[in-house]
Amino acid sequence: MAEKLATLSFSDGTPSIDFPVLTGSVGPDVIDVRALYAKTGKFTYDPGFMSTASCRSNITYIDGDQGILQYRGYPIEQIAEDCSFLEVAYLIMNGELPNQKQLGEFVDIVTHHTMVHEQLMRFYSGFRRDAHPMAVLCGVVGALSAFYHDSINIHDARSREISAFRLIAKLPTITAMTYKYTTGQPFMYPKNALSYVDNFLYMMFGTPCEEYKPNPTLSRAMDRILILHADHEQNASTSTVRLAGSTGANPFACISAGIASLWGPAHGGANEAVLKMLAEIEDAKNIPAFIKRVKDKDGHAMLMGFGHRVYKNYDPRAKIIQKTCHEVLEELDLKDDKLFKLAMALEKVALEDEYFVKRKLYPNVDFYSGIVYKALGIPVAMFTAIFALARTVGWIAQWNELISDPDQKIGRPRQLFTGAARREFVPMAKRK
Ligand code: CMC
Repeated sequence: MAEKLATLSFSDGTPSIDFPVLTGSVGPDVIDVRALYAKTGKFTYDPGFMSTASCRSNITYIDGDQGILQYRGYPIEQIAEDCSFLEVAYLIMNGELPNQKQLGEFVDIVTHHTMVHEQLMRFYSGFRRDAHPMAVLCGVVGALSAFYHDSINIHDARSREISAFRLIAKLPTITAMTYKYTTGQPFMYPKNALSYVDNFLYMMFGTPCEEYKPNPTLSRAMDRILILHADHEQNASTSTVRLAGSTGANPFACISAGIASLWGPAHGGANEAVLKMLAEIEDAKNIPAFIKRVKDKDGHAMLMGFGHRVYKNYDPRAKIIQKTCHEVLEELDLKDDKLFKLAMALEKVALEDEYFVKRKLYPNVDFYSGIVYKALGIPVAMFTAIFALARTVGWIAQWNELISDPDQKIGRPRQLFTGAARREFVPMAKRK
């Protein structure tokens, strides 16, 4: 088939130029503008990457108009129903679903990397007890490169693999320690007999004084939430990881950068912001006034947990979380949970309101996840930290893909300069 081309023409007499059009396996074609500057001396302008593909990737595919999310080709609905989180981690990292033996080996390696260097524990005491968990997480994960020097040669595939296992295995331990530190309870060592999720919940909620009994429904809910957050193609935090990785920075530093990027309320911090918003609305009778404030853009009020850069339809993850939310509240006999009812009432009002309909604003993954976390006993400030724990799988897979990509170059955007052009320096004595 003849190469597809896109022709760029100019109104100032500059001759028109052809660019190759690249076709992926699914999704929109992409115009390859890499030669644009060399051929024309011009750049493209695309703040917020509204129309820019920053890389090739074969990990996660989203069709935002249809509300489709697939990991390595598998629909999220099927994966969330049938897989465990570590099975999904294997898939995301290796490209194929594991067979029983492969999964067994993978789980075994992760399980045997869950402990952290004993000295890392002392790192925590440098933080205030009331520090935000994401602040602690950025610091502690960044510090891993100071503890695991032996695996930071990014050009060595085996080193990259060891770092990946260390990150996936230690994030639950580090996250749970972050929580324990805020409560003043002792850190809990991981227990290798437990599953990945049960181990995390044990390290969060267990104490040395009592036996911890996992609840299968709650463990399954947490597992599913981790699956839903495992990867989401080139979002802000993943792009941050890739940008940091493009400089040759070590994986622990790159993931720490990703955690910092995830923290913002427009991204992973939205789950925390949703609960704060629901607490502020307090009662269904206050929904109309709140919606009015949002529509009037009064004081930057936003309906948190709604809207998405890519999804212009229901976020498929939100549907699954809503179902999980029902299951968890049922199990805990919280069917009449006030926050859940309020969230559903708010969702209904927004979905019928012209402002949201016109802008194609639908609930995203964060709208219901906070209610599940809260029901599981997880404090609001920890919500985004758990998102980071899950997303570490996606970040590390995307980082690995970047390092192995022959097209990979240091990420270095250009700019449209609008500041002062060259002018002569004015000595202090001559300044007015
Ligand atoms: N509430 C009220 N108005 C909104 C919202 C919202 N949640 N989201 C978008 N809009 C409006 C926005 O003001 C704009 O209106 P107008 O055309 O009048 O200027 C229009 O919708 C288009 O929005 P945008 O800001 O151009 O959209 P974006 O793609 O740049 O932003 C977003 C996407 C997710 C940052 C934004 O929808 C948002 O801030 N939502 C709330 C925060 C949130 O829930 N974030 C979690 C995203 S999903 C998990 C994740 O990826 O981390």
